[in-house]
Amino acid sequence: MSGAVGVFDSGIGGLTVASAIKKHLPNHKLIYFGDTLHLPYGDKSSENIQNYIKAISAFLFEHKCQHLVVACNSASSVLPMVSGLPSFRSITNVIDPVVECVINDTSLKRIGVIGTKRTINSHVYQQQLNDANPSLEVFEHATPLLAPMIEEGFIHDSIAEKVIHEYLSELPEIDALILGCTHYPLIRKEIDAYFEGKVKLFDAPDVVANSLTKLVESPKDDEPQDHFYVSDLTKSFEKTAQLFFGESIQLEKRILFNF
Ligand code: DGL
Repeated sequence: MSGAVGVFDSGIGGLTVASAIKKHLPNHKLIYFGDTLHLPYGDKSSENIQNYIKAISAFLFEHKCQHLVVACNSASSVLPMVSGLPSFRSITNVIDPVVECVINDTSLKRIGVIGTKRTINSHVYQQQLNDANPSLEVFEHATPLLAPMIEEGFIHDSIAEKVIHEYLSELPEIDALILGCTHYPLIRKEIDAYFEGKVKLFDAPDVVANSLTKLVESPKDDEPQDHFYVSDLTKSFEKTAQLFFGESIQLEKRILFNF
């Protein structure tokens, strides 16, 4: 086994990150866990999400993953509170690398952040951005309908457009917007269209994949067999996973805990 990467999210959002990881590290085996049974994470308590993280991490570690990617902002926002995680060689969240990217762009002054209620109410982005640069103005806005909407397949249609418009029109004038949920890259084009390309968008997939490449060693496997586990089989997960990883992938159902 040569450094398999375990990636998880509540559902299809983490697939945006997993597919970027596959592009950057094609010879690494990927094991994905979509916790579709507990979706959306954004409405769950911190305690519940911490328990999901523990159970899924243990599962991925048992499946010989050496690197863990928490491909969910809601889970990443409570990750510092989780103790006793298995001893992965590296653990990557989806918040730190994106914050670093924003900070490095010194032209930005007014930053919007959208995400689930869990992520926004944690104020993790505001804190990290202002710790690095207190003069940045940060406007956080919860957009809780977006992840379930995307999960249900409302993406490039008038329903999505209306919901996106409703939420984004509540933001003040900004130079940049952080898409603080891994589901949102799936509606990035629509968000960009709303702002007519005038607001710089930041999201996790390539930024996180890029930071992971610095942590993993070269693999020995040339043709790694990826695995996709879900806690509940859903059509939407199957469709999106096939879109990103090809028709031939098989979903395997695993229930890890009864809560
Ligand atoms: N994709 C997730 C995130 O980045 C979770 C969305 C949800 O399940 O609420 O927060």
